[in-house]
Amino acid sequence: MSVTKSAETQPALKRERQLKMYRRALKVLPGGTDSNFRAWGEHTVYVDRGKGGRVWDLDGNEFVDLRLGYGPVILGHADDRVDEAVHEAVRKGVSFSLTSEQEVRTGELIQELTGWVEMARMTVSGTEATMHAIRIARAYTGRDKIIKFEGQYHGMHDYALISVLPYDVSELGDRDNPVRLAWGRGIPEAVAETVIPAPYNDLDLLRRIFEREGDNIAAVLIEPVLGNAQGIMPQPHFLPGVRELTREFGAVLIFDEVKTGFRFARGGAAEYFGIKPDLATYAKAMGNGYPAAAFGGTREVMSVLPENVSHGGTYAGNRVAAAAAVATLSILKDTDALETIGRTGEAMQRAIGEILNRRGIAHVFTGHPSMFGIMFAEELPTDYRGWAATDHELYDAVALGMHPRGAMPEPDSREPWFVCEAHSSSDVEQAVEAFESSLNAALELRARA
Ligand SMILES: Cc1ncc(COP(=O)(O)O)c(C=O)c1O
Repeated sequence: MSVTKSAETQPALKRERQLKMYRRALKVLPGGTDSNFRAWGEHTVYVDRGKGGRVWDLDGNEFVDLRLGYGPVILGHADDRVDEAVHEAVRKGVSFSLTSEQEVRTGELIQELTGWVEMARMTVSGTEATMHAIRIARAYTGRDKIIKFEGQYHGMHDYALISVLPYDVSELGDRDNPVRLAWGRGIPEAVAETVIPAPYNDLDLLRRIFEREGDNIAAVLIEPVLGNAQGIMPQPHFLPGVRELTREFGAVLIFDEVKTGFRFARGGAAEYFGIKPDLATYAKAMGNGYPAAAFGGTREVMSVLPENVSHGGTYAGNRVAAAAAVATLSILKDTDALETIGRTGEAMQRAIGEILNRRGIAHVFTGHPSMFGIMFAEELPTDYRGWAATDHELYDAVALGMHPRGAMPEPDSREPWFVCEAHSSSDVEQAVEAFESSLNAALELRARA
């Protein structure tokens, strides 16, 4: 992440309290925070509060929030409808390790919204959801290997941390024979060897992998779009091809819908692209920011539970998460929240497109209006390696420069902009103005260099 380097060229934000907090935090939290993704050195943001589509940091700086917690806040921060349901539920106690009515209702809502998930189980995080989906696929098929795609992030367990997000894509090795690139130390070689990385959108290579070792492949784990590379979309033939190949070779197809679920459509990316996988994982949008997650799938595949596969958790289906999931999923099901979000995202894209067209800057939009990327490139990349060929340094500088101008996208070109129901037209206006002014500053700086 180029936060430190680019920040020197940007107007200043008030940072006094946050710097103080950073120094205090460094004494107890590695990097001064609880996740490597938000360890931005001296620029680490310490949050005070959020409401609707806005967020305030400890120094009182106010931003239109385009990160939305990496996607979960689909309705808006501190949504009264969801918060009231949670508050009412927690007054009755929170931890029983017994099953509540809200958990059953969550399962029913997942079934109703997706139309294909017959059985589901709740987890606390997307990481746990993908970890269990992999285990179920292995148990169901009696095979060990998992195919995953370069540039896809599926959470923090060992099986998912292969060929995720290098800045230098040459580390991924030869495109036709990619290396298993472990993200950081501590991942046993024996675990890494069970994962086969493949470039996204390359059906021929996928077929070659299946022909080579199809008998050992338990599952293809795929986020239907490259959510962590600005939402690069599948080419029209790709997902149907993956579905056919997994059927032909008897492997389970797992859609990781942690980002796309209940966002791309009520039934997630499966509905949006018209593909029915065997298993899917959900998190983020299902709880509007509360830690609700789930995996689910066909009765046939899920029936390895409960006797033959381990899944459990003290907090699985916890009261807070289940109440939040019932409230959030009910709103997404019964209102036009998703349509509103789609229109807001389109309005933002239109305005930004006009700004870039006026300046003759080559660009493409990736993803879905509710979760979209802006790439400075002539052509739409089709895989993670293609992202590297875009002018992502310019994007990073623009995104970071938006912060002191009152809008906060992730300062890393791989993360899309997220849109929530609460984003108003004045939020859109402010975000677009911040984009334009930051773009002007970045271009001026580049011209001077
Ligand atoms: C596609 C995808 N899968 C899984 C995860 C992991 O979810 P969590 O952070 O809740 O563990 C993420 C998180 O960003 C994600 O984007």
